[in-house]
Amino acid sequence: MAFTVGYFVGSLSSTSINRTLAKALIRLAPADLDFVEIPIKDLPLYSPDFDADYPPEGQALKRAIAQVDAILFVTPEYNRSIPGALKNAIDWASRPWGQNSFDHIPAAVIGATPGAIGTALAQQALRAVLSYCNARQMTAPEGYISLKPGLITEDGAVTNESTEKFLSDFMVEFRDHIERVLTVLPRRS
Ligand code: FNR
Repeated sequence: MAFTVGYFVGSLSSTSINRTLAKALIRLAPADLDFVEIPIKDLPLYSPDFDADYPPEGQALKRAIAQVDAILFVTPEYNRSIPGALKNAIDWASRPWGQNSFDHIPAAVIGATPGAIGTALAQQALRAVLSYCNARQMTAPEGYISLKPGLITEDGAVTNESTEKFLSDFMVEFRDHIERVLTVLPRRS
């Protein structure tokens, strides 16, 4: 069965290494996964004042999530947590109350930093948020990527064999996770 994965890149940077990582993951993913980016950069800051009448950007976000089978988060770590832009997008998608777009959705988390800890703390923070949002997270493998210059080319080719295998295995596991979750719990449309 083929699945469509919506992916969030948690960085707004024009030179984002997490966007590069996302490209690599897409290249290495099983052929029966299709990908669509869910953009976050044009969202205003969320306020409950919008709940009665979501602006077009908020409606587009929720529509985009409704149209995919699963969500992949590829995020940097900012100050040992997730970037505000990504948290803002999650807040938008989780509301209005009773219309949480992440309810039961299969999800995976991965991230890259030039540093040594590979976004581990950001991912733990994101997992807590997604847990509250009732997403069905893949718990293993975890993907803490220390991305040194040259490890992934700009168009997403991985230059190191063991990293390439790790990322490829990660996506195979995610595909299987999506299938398992949706077999037990098909998404409501
Ligand atoms: C960082 N960076 C960073 N790195 C890390 O490993 N742990 C951290 O807590 C932080 N904190 C942090 C805060 C802020 C505001 C910035 C701008 C950066 C460095 C970060 O990993 C690096 O800039 C990455 O390149 C960010 O990912 P993108 O934007 O290139 O995808």
